[in-house]
Amino acid sequence: MKILLIGDIHGNIEALDAVLTKEVNKIDNVIVLGDIVGYMANPKEAIDSVKDFDCILGNHDYAMCNPDMIWWFNSVARQALTWTKKQLREEDFTFLKGLPFQRIYKNENFTVVHGCLGDDPFEYLLDIYQAEKNFKLMSTDLLFVGHTHVPIIWQEDSLENIKELTTIDYDKEILLDEHLKYIFNIGSVGQPRDEDPRSCYVIYDTEKYSVCYRRQEYDINKTVRKIAENDLPKFLYERLMLGI
Ligand SMILES: [Fe+2]
Repeated sequence: MKILLIGDIHGNIEALDAVLTKEVNKIDNVIVLGDIVGYMANPKEAIDSVKDFDCILGNHDYAMCNPDMIWWFNSVARQALTWTKKQLREEDFTFLKGLPFQRIYKNENFTVVHGCLGDDPFEYLLDIYQAEKNFKLMSTDLLFVGHTHVPIIWQEDSLENIKELTTIDYDKEILLDEHLKYIFNIGSVGQPRDEDPRSCYVIYDTEKYSVCYRRQEYDINKTVRKIAENDLPKFLYERLMLGI
């Protein structure tokens, strides 16, 4: 089975459409790692596009249904969340409220969570120490996360040695070793922050036991125009164009 893993879409419908158009006929399942909304101008359309897939909650999705959470964000994110909340329909809030924090796929040997396993699903998994903590909590050999918007891989051997892989070879299949455990940060579809503005996502092939990272260009000028037209903060399109 080929599984497309996408996340951190953040209402960027041009990016989401470009990824789905490219991949959807080649894969069997789509899993969405949260942050469907927030930042960009098409939150409703993003929800409509992913609502039939397996989704989990990101912190921006969670904030839509939990107003106190909005103070957790910086002022730019807060402005965008306040704008986003006004765009959503009743059915969108119902959909977001029904999403879990994580999903475990025992048969396919993987788990998905937006940030981290443990008490706080919205903690950032940033370094080898947090990777170590997450490896201990994993009940499957593979864990896919998002949240930082930066693709990265950690692998752990049977002696609990952890290797961090920050350079990703795109479009190259990584054949996984069944004796190792892996954590994959899948990057972001809608707002990459690794200085590459193209959408980032992952395909997991359960039969080959392989993972492949991919990048996809999209009509970023259209997304930028919509951010400006809706009076969302200028910083949002400046960072989008730079991928930061
Ligand atoms: Fe995000």
